[in-house]
Formats: sequence, structure tokens, C-alpha cells
Amino acid sequence: MKTIDELIDEGVGGKRVFVRADLNVPLSGDTITDDGRIRAVVPTIAKLAGAGAKVVVTSHLGRPKGAPDPQFSLAPVARRLGELLGTKVAFATDTVGENARDVVGALADGGVALLENLRFNPGETSKDDAERGAFADRLAELAELYVGDGFGAVHRKHASVYDLPARLPHAAGLLIATEVGVLKKLTEDVARPYAVVLGGAKVSDKLGVIDHLLDRADRILIGGGMLFTFLKAQGHEVGKSLVQDDQLGIVAEYLERAKAKGVEFVLPVDVVGAPSFPDLKNPVAGNPVTVPVDAFPGDLMGLDIGPETRKLFASKLADTATVFWNGPMGVFEHPDYAEGTRAVAQALLDSPAFTVVGGGDSAAAVRILGFDENAFGHISTGGGASLEYLEGKTLPGLAALED
Ligand code: 3PG
Repeated sequence: MKTIDELIDEGVGGKRVFVRADLNVPLSGDTITDDGRIRAVVPTIAKLAGAGAKVVVTSHLGRPKGAPDPQFSLAPVARRLGELLGTKVAFATDTVGENARDVVGALADGGVALLENLRFNPGETSKDDAERGAFADRLAELAELYVGDGFGAVHRKHASVYDLPARLPHAAGLLIATEVGVLKKLTEDVARPYAVVLGGAKVSDKLGVIDHLLDRADRILIGGGMLFTFLKAQGHEVGKSLVQDDQLGIVAEYLERAKAKGVEFVLPVDVVGAPSFPDLKNPVAGNPVTVPVDAFPGDLMGLDIGPETRKLFASKLADTATVFWNGPMGVFEHPDYAEGTRAVAQALLDSPAFTVVGGGDSAAAVRILGFDENAFGHISTGGGASLEYLEGKTLPGLAALED
């Protein structure tokens, strides 16, 4: 994989350099609630601009349906990127249309532009190679060089991630280089004991990684909405909690395999819940109920791990050498159900282990709950991407940068 330094040594001055970033940040209206992914790509953009390149930044945001949709506009991101870079970022209101050509054409050496959401074009995410390729051809007309730095999207076989680097001389950006370096530490010669904490709503999103980790991790701790499928598979009542009934069989099989392999599976012993899902638009503190998992009332919806579980998880992380954490422990956006996620973040900080927070919601949670992100070994910008990396899959956006 060519590095950005090598690309700069070959000469980027006066050249249009396409930077595929992942600026898919959480928004409330047009307010960015966590700008971690924008900050993460600033060093690459600043380095290219400093070397005199005309930097054309692109990204997706959300999952629009292949057509412009104002709620997924990157305009607020352009403003924040400009603040962070300390320079004006020109914003193009389309991606490969007249405005993009004009904005890119007007860039001075060292200037930065951001194009509108790539996914406003059906070709970006198309499963049809020809349609994706045709869109990549149009993107390629905008630049002379390509830098891949959208780590959070490297697991997507999309035009700007996978097809475009085949059309332009390319290199990996600083963020991708850092992310891959850290994840390599988790896959090659990992320091033991190695614990993995998994949360988030759906167990189906985590099956691949659990399957893989059963051969690698020493301990697997389960929280988040997915914990209820595990509890039900063990024969517990889970009331009105989220359960993926179609996954009960595979989850039971994983629990058996873990036992056979001597991998310690740590499941919650108590949970916090309420009769219904809380209002996240108006998150006022209420009266959450704490119950042990073996006395689960039928009318309760579990929404976070309980206080005994927090202590249990902290003790299981205290003597580890490596920890990977992906997925919040509960509905952390609500004050009644944030304590489990907060406790895991704190346990990671208290542990002497090399700690990696694996992207997406857990990375945002750490920052939203007020933790100093620099105190963690690494906070990845990739949720799905880091999981797929750990699963040992070939990631299209990394493979495309290899040759
Ligand atoms: C993410 O948020 O994980 C990345 O930006 C990829 O987004 P996607 O899941 O919509 O492809």
C-alpha cells in the first residue's frame, strides 16, 4: 500500500487529489452531535493541502436512496471541516454535476472542496459492476490522484471506495494507515488475556465476528440489545426485551463452542429496564427498574446492563492485556440507560490493557459521555469495517489500495 508521504514525494503540488473520507457523522437536524470522524481525516487533508494539492474531499452520509435528499446533505460537515482546518472549504451542491466541476475547477493550490453526498447517485452503491464503474468514471474525471482515507467505509464495495482507485494512481491516507496498524495488533500476536466486549442492538450483526473470536479471544462479554437473545438461548425469561428468535439456535451453538474451547463467555447477571422504550427526543430521567436476569418480569423491556453486571464486567477487564470493545451496553442516549456503557468505558480506562474502541456508536458514546478519547489506546472510526477486519474478511476498500 503506497503511503501518502510517498505520493507527496512523487509530487502533488497543483494536482487535484480526490480524498475518499468517511464523514458519516451523527446529526440532529443540521447539528453534528459527534465530529470524531471529521477530526480523524483532518491530518490527511491538511498534509495534502500543505503540499500544494487541490484537495477534493468526498464522503457518504446516511443511507439516502440514490437521489438527493436534504436531510442527508453534507453541507453542515463542510462548515465543520472548514472550522477544523482553519480554512474555507468550498462546498459543491452535487457530486459529478456542473457545480462540482465548477467548484473543483476554481480550487487554488492548497485549496479544499467537499462534494455533496456520494450516495445521492445510484451508481455509488450499485451492485451492478457496470453501473458502479460508469459512476467511478465520472468521479475520475474530477481528479488526477486518489487517496483512500474513509476507513469506516472500506468494507463497502462502492464506486468511490473500490472502483475509483483502480482508475487513478492511489495511496492510503494517514487514518487508514493508523487504523490498519492498530487492528493488526489484534489479529497478529495479540497480547493476552484478550477480552472482547460486544454490544449493540442486533446479534445478527455480530455473528461473523463472534464465530471468528471463538478461536482467538480468551473472554467475550456480551451487553446491549443483543444480550437478550443470549439470555433467552440460555432459557431465561426476557419479558418485552428485543430478541432475535431466528438467531437462538446459532447463539446456543456459540455458547457450547465457547465451553468446549475454554473461551469464557460473560453474560449479564442483572439488567435495567422499563415497561417501554424511552423517548430519545425528550430524554428526561424516569424510574428505571433493576432486576436479576433469573427473575425477569414479563412486562419489562431490558434497556441496559445492571449494577452487578457492571462490577462483573469491570473485574473481567481488570487483568487483561488487550481489549476490543464494539457496541454500547444499553440505550446510552438516555440518562437512565447510559450507566452500563459508561462503566465499560471506565473499566477500559482503569485496565492496564491496550484498549481499542471499535467505531460507530461505541466511539460516539465514549465522546458523548464525556470521556477523554486520548486516554484510550485507539478509538476506531469504523464500526462495521473494524468488525469485518477482525473477522478476517477481505475489505474491498483496502484491497483496492494494495495494488
Ligand atoms: C458506518 O457508519 O459504519 C460507515 O459510515 C458505513 O456506513 P454504511 O453502513 O451506511 O455503509
